[in-house]
Amino acid sequence: MHKPIRKIILVGFRATGKTSVGRLLAEHLGVEFLDMDRVLTERHGKISQVVAEHGWDFFRARERELLKELVDLQEGVIATGGGAVLHREIWPAMRESGLVVWLTSTLELICQRLGSDPASDSQRPSLTGRDIRAETATVLTEREPLYRAAAHLTVASNRPVAEVAGEIEELLRQDAGPEGNVSRSTTINQRVR
Ligand code: S3P
Repeated sequence: MHKPIRKIILVGFRATGKTSVGRLLAEHLGVEFLDMDRVLTERHGKISQVVAEHGWDFFRARERELLKELVDLQEGVIATGGGAVLHREIWPAMRESGLVVWLTSTLELICQRLGSDPASDSQRPSLTGRDIRAETATVLTEREPLYRAAAHLTVASNRPVAEVAGEIEELLRQDAGPEGNVSRSTTINQRVR
């Protein structure tokens, strides 16, 4: 019997709407919403301070621990941090545990959002020491192949949050429909755009 998907893992670069889309999606699906950055902040303090005091390797280790815990959840919507996809060894467990959705956006919009989001200062310390635009262009190019390979499907997020969440819900409905007994990866990967 095909089981409807009740676990969604959102991946994607900084400021691509993982938190706002995830929150809405969880509300619509009636499941718990978990934001990795938020949990990490509750556990270890502000990300900017953690990185300033202990460095990126320490942060990545804490992130890896949390991601491993979250793949064990039966259901829920998880907004990962933009760098969670660096933990390649966890991709198989992530993909097995739920539907992994890559939220994409444009360089322009990401830079605009990074500059205007008040959470950026505490949540998004510089990854390279370069200015926002140069850093985003470089890191995005490095990470795009990782997001693509880790995710079951890709959804453009440079539009209203409700539309993005609605598209993901529609894909879930189709997967749970009469054809839903086709394996998850087959059904969903055909829809990648
Ligand atoms: C990071 C993205 C951030 C946060 C941390 C590292 C990254 O999450 O986890 O600053 O490496 O891109 P958001 O994607 O929620 O901004």
